Amino acid sequence: MFARMSVTAGGDVDYETTGHGYATRRRADPRIAAAIHAALGDARNVLNVGAGAGSYEPADRYVLAVEPSARMREQRPPGAAPALRAYAESLPFDDDSFDAVMATITVHQWSDPMRGLAELRRVARAAVGVLTFDGDALDRFWLADYVPELIVAERRRYPRIAAIAAALGEGTEVAEVPIPVDCTDGFAEAFYARPEQLLDPRVRAA
Ligand SMILES: C[S@@+](CC[C@H](N)C(=O)[O-])C[C@H]1O[C@@H](n2cnc3c(N)ncnc32)[C@H](O)[C@@H]1O
Repeated sequence: MFARMSVTAGGDVDYETTGHGYATRRRADPRIAAAIHAALGDARNVLNVGAGAGSYEPADRYVLAVEPSARMREQRPPGAAPALRAYAESLPFDDDSFDAVMATITVHQWSDPMRGLAELRRVARAAVGVLTFDGDALDRFWLADYVPELIVAERRRYPRIAAIAAALGEGTEVAEVPIPVDCTDGFAEAFYARPEQLLDPRVRAA
């Protein structure tokens, strides 16, 4: 079900060779950050799984990060939360260890997303916040007219939203997070209103 280009510490993307410079392009957007932080409720301690360089980690709570790729861990800025080398599918924590758990733009890269989501649920006392893309909505992106192959490949990577919600259990709420036209975060969909940016190889690499 899930495309896998290579088997590495960073899931279906080889961050050890392509992750360089990631942090300069993937800059958290404050409006998206506000939606994520609201989903964490009043949690005082938060586990961030697939944490990468630390985007979207709240600054006003205690955070511990889990990130398998050394290349990504080394891009975490000074003062960022400590990051452990571990995988979502096998979190080295007891049940209910954290008030809340977050995972942003990462579930599609896990070798076993459903097992990883069960692990998030297991170690969280309360909220689990997952930010991901809806593969079924990708056709709404104009890029689908230009590079349909890309959209097909991307759709294959993303677990269905309903499957994620089911894995997280009863009471899970699904909310759309609008991407601002001037989004500061450099994922591909962020450039829907700035198509010329996609001609920049550095943007594409990110
Ligand atoms: C696209 S990056 C997102 C990083 C960060 N959460 C963000 O929003 O910028 C995906 C991250 O998931 C990590 N990852 C891949 N497979 C994983 C797994 N099985 N468990 C935990 N993290 C994983 C990768 O190493 C990478 O850092």
